[in-house]
Amino acid sequence: MPQVYLNGRFMAPEDAQISPMDRGFLFADGIYEVIPAYNGVLFRFEEHLARLERSLAEVDIRNPHSPAQWRALCDELLHHNGDGNLSVYLQITRGAAQKRDHAFPSPAVTPTVFMMTSPIAVPAADSPDTAVGIKAITLDDIRWARCDIKSVSLLPNSLLRQQAVAAGAAEAILLRDGFVTEGSASNVFVVKGGTIATPPKSHAILGGITRDLVVELCHQHGFALQEREITEMQLRQADEIWITSSTKEVVPVTHLNDAIIGNGQPGPQWKRLARHYVQHKRRLCGLDTPETRD
Ligand code: PDD
Repeated sequence: MPQVYLNGRFMAPEDAQISPMDRGFLFADGIYEVIPAYNGVLFRFEEHLARLERSLAEVDIRNPHSPAQWRALCDELLHHNGDGNLSVYLQITRGAAQKRDHAFPSPAVTPTVFMMTSPIAVPAADSPDTAVGIKAITLDDIRWARCDIKSVSLLPNSLLRQQAVAAGAAEAILLRDGFVTEGSASNVFVVKGGTIATPPKSHAILGGITRDLVVELCHQHGFALQEREITEMQLRQADEIWITSSTKEVVPVTHLNDAIIGNGQPGPQWKRLARHYVQHKRRLCGLDTPETRD
């Protein structure tokens, strides 16, 4: 039976109760993280925790746990849910106040901590030779000006993703003032003439943990990579487009709006990068198998 964690206790999801006065419910006043675990082993945990700390500090919510406590909670939650390949969702809200007031409660109230797990679907990168790409559509980035904060306030992202789904696509790639920012729940890479590019970190995008790993792997394995602005035209004319996220890893986009990207198949640079990504993951999470060794 699945177990979730709420404010100090593990329990069945139907037993988890949160006050309607919680500011997460009333104001979307909270921060979240999604951390993948393979074989029960948390992947890039320190990086996710550093981003969590930063997001909490940006909105002035007290971090209720030390890094060691967070790790213990994540490990125990994974264990209660059978380990394996799961993502840990964790959310911290400012807590429940006596009355609804836009300003923060004073004195501060106790933050609400909620955690749950979800199964990770087999990622495309696990089988680069047989993987198929996804379709994406481009949409105007209608979000706020602090997309670097991993806030639970995801209504714009949800509206954008839904528009993509309604158009038969898996992701919306967002454009602000003619430049690519990111996906509704992913970061974006393009490849042109063998050079890979991804938008630089700024307030306009979430600094993705997977994005950072892909950048690292590119540097490590001799790919040409630039962190720079990408215009709408450069996106449309790319040889390859990839999106990255903790739950999907690195996914090739083979169709954009009504056009085919490259030859409509996952491209050679993606296949090469996917192999390095999977090798790295398997090494770190003790999943090493003969076919993935160098
Ligand atoms: N979303 N940009 C946005 C807007 C995101 O929501 C996400 C991830 C990313 C990728 O970040 P990372 O590589 O650290 O997962 C970029 C998560 C998975 C979610 O909301 O479920």
